[in-house]
Parts: sequence; C-alpha cells; structure tokens
Amino acid sequence: MALTSRPRGTNDIIPGDIELWLELEEKIRQVCHAFGYKELRTPLFEHTELFQRGIGDATDIVEKEMYTFEDRGHRSITLRPEGTAPLVRAYIENNLGSGSLPVKLFYYGPMFRYERPQAGRYRQFTQFGCEALGSADPLLDVETIALPLALYESCGLTGFEVELNSIGCPSCRGAYREKLIEFFAPHTDHLCKSCQGRLERNPMRLLDCKVESCQAIMEDAPVITEYLCTDCAHHFSGVRSYLDEFGIPYKLNPRLVRGFDYYTRTVFEVVSSELGSQNAIGAGGRYDGLVEEVGGKPTPAVGYAVGVERLLLALKSQGKLQADMPGPNLYLAHFGGATKMKAAYVAQTLRKQGLWVELDYADRSVKAQMKAANKLNSRFVLVIGEDELANNRAVVRDMQSGQEASVSLDDVGELTKIVGECAK
Ligand code: HAM
Repeated sequence: MALTSRPRGTNDIIPGDIELWLELEEKIRQVCHAFGYKELRTPLFEHTELFQRGIGDATDIVEKEMYTFEDRGHRSITLRPEGTAPLVRAYIENNLGSGSLPVKLFYYGPMFRYERPQAGRYRQFTQFGCEALGSADPLLDVETIALPLALYESCGLTGFEVELNSIGCPSCRGAYREKLIEFFAPHTDHLCKSCQGRLERNPMRLLDCKVESCQAIMEDAPVITEYLCTDCAHHFSGVRSYLDEFGIPYKLNPRLVRGFDYYTRTVFEVVSSELGSQNAIGAGGRYDGLVEEVGGKPTPAVGYAVGVERLLLALKSQGKLQADMPGPNLYLAHFGGATKMKAAYVAQTLRKQGLWVELDYADRSVKAQMKAANKLNSRFVLVIGEDELANNRAVVRDMQSGQEASVSLDDVGELTKIVGECAK
C-alpha cells in the first residue's frame, strides 16, 4: 500500500474546497440560530453497546458497517457511525433535559461507516444533524424538516424532494409485523441471506433491503400506514397539515422505513435530482423510545441529519455556493538584506491587526515578486528598497484603483489604516 494514498472512502479537503465547507458551516450556524438550536459536540467514539442498543442489532449499520475495535483496556469501542445515539447519550449524561422542553441541539462532524465507497458514499463522511428532545408535537417534526430545507434554500439548492412516511409505534407495529411475516413466508427461499436471518427478528428491516431480488418481492408487501393505531394516524395527519401550512411539498412513500430501529412515527428523506444512486442529501425522523432505551426518562424526540459531502456535490453540480477567493490585503516586495528585515517588521505589525500580509521568502527579483503579488491577487502592494529604507517612507499602491499614497515605515498606523479600511 502506497504511503501517499489515503484509506479508501476518505477524502482530503484542500484549500480551494475548504472555503466552500466553511461557508456552508456558517450557513448551518445561521439557520440553527434562527430555529433556536444550540451546538453539542460528542466524542468521535463511544462504547459499542450504545449503537447496538440504540441503532439496533439487526440493522445493516450494526451488523456490517461499524468500525469497532477493542481498546487497550479491553473495552469494545466504535467510531460513531451517526450522531443521534451519541447525542441522546450526552443529553442523558449531562442532564440536559432538566430545564424547559424541548431541548434543541445540533452537531456537525465526521461519521464512520464501513460501506462500499462510491460517488457520494464514503467511509468517513460529515453530517450536520439537528435533534429536538422533549416534545411529541407534530409541529416539531415539521420544523425538523423545515430547518434543513431552509439551509438548502439558503445555499441556492433546487431540485430536491421530501419523501415522507409514518412507521407507527411499537403498539401498531405488532399487527403489521405479523402481516409481514405472513407475507414473506412463501418467499423465504428467494430472499437474500440477511433477509432470511432477519425475518423472525425484525421483518420491517426487510423493506429496507437493497438487493434487487428482495426489492422485487417487497413491491407487493403490506404497507405500515394501513396499520397505524389511532394516535399514530392522528399524529401523522398533524404532520401533514403543518407541512401544508408551511407550504412544503412532499411525496408520501409508504415503503420508506429507514435503516435504524430507533424510529417511531414520522420518517423522512430528502432526495436530490442532482445525485446518482446516492441521492439522499439528508434524512431523519421521530424516535420517541430512544432516550428511554439508552437509560433516560421517556422523552419523545425528532431529528434530521444532512450529508454534507452530498449536499456540496449537489450544489457544485448546480454551480451554486461559489466561495470567493480573496487575496492578501498587502504584498510587501523588498530587495533582501535590511529591506527584507523592514518588510518583515511591517508584515508582523499589520498581521497582528488581523490583516493578511504576504512577502517573499526566496530573495527573488522585485519583478518576480510583483508577479507573485498579482497571482495572489493582492489588493495593495508596497515596495521597500534602499531609498525607502533611508527615508523611512514608501509608496503603497491600490491594485484595484491604481491610487498611490506615501506612508511612513516607522509608524505604520497610516499604512494599517489604508489597507485595513479596504479589508472591511
Ligand atoms: P442516515 O440516513 O444514515 O441517517 O444519514 C443521513 C444522511 O447522511 C444521508 O441522507 C446522507 O446524506 C448522509 N450519509 C449517510 N451515509 C453516508 C455515507 N456513507 N457517505 C456519505 N454520506 C452519507 C442518520 O444518520 C440519522 N442519524 C439521521 C437522524 C437524525 N435521525 C434522527 N435524527
């Protein structure tokens, strides 16, 4: 294995791209602020059991995709494959539910899944997630959808669609589970190995299977929405009314079950027309039983996670979110020796004021330095030669307007003011 290649399914974010990431992060913070979500940061790894219990033993993620290892103290540790279970753990451990409810939290950071890498599917990827804990109000389900949509819109993204379903609660799922087992029984031999294994343990997981032959069988499977109990049906109709009220178009997808066991009632996915097979740019749902499952008080909750790489891919293919690449505020050209020393002093003074100042480190000719300043797109240029050094004054040139001004090199207040004014 070449030392110069990164592990499969990972990415470097290099200058030129990072500006877009930072701009997106800023938009995320703006939209979270508007919706009243506070940031929470959890460790990159957790005890494996958190995910086994939280996400569910019979899910693809837990069965096949986790980066799990034993640490030197013989504990089983897992790199977080998602952010909801860790956030719920942190909510309980830090007693965040002791004040007024709901508690609205967001996170942003890397997740790890051992998946087959392809465009838009990585082994390390970034999620922005928002979670609201402590309310069963369907209005909160809809706000949880509205928040990422506001983000997508603020980035200028178009061509996405919300898919919506309700998968009920443990009480309505009992009858549905029986119906599913009954439906799949005659097809058992044609199901993939994983589905055969899950049929008794968790038949709803079969609906999520990506194997083509299984998907063909699923087409005629009974749909959960026909088995919802009165409370779940009422909740779902509340969600749809608020979506209508908000003017958020959506498509009902009764086959949307999502790959986590913690979901109850509302589930949703947002798909982009810009992406190929990995077209979900975000997804989420309600998880009213998870806080209790992890060891807290019964607490209804709902959340959503945006796949940041996929969102950026979709935006790039639409030519949106172009971060401007500003150049330095000032380029200081010099003739080496004492003139370089003076340039270094001026640079140091201006940098402490937060201005971006560049200078030459290779003792190149002034002509070459001017070329470098141009290439970097520096706003101002100042040349320090022997005369400038002797007089302690130099001419600063605004490369945009062509205007020039003579400034002191001893007391650089004037220079700081000229360059700083344009940096605002
Ligand atoms: P998820 O559907 O597994 O849900 O992931 C959410 C989003 O993360 C996906 O829609 C996709 O954009 C992105 N994503 C997932 N896997 C990958 C990957 N391998 N490579 C690149 N992007 C990926 C969750 O993780 C839930 N925790 C969402 C949630 C929050 N539910 C409630 N609250």
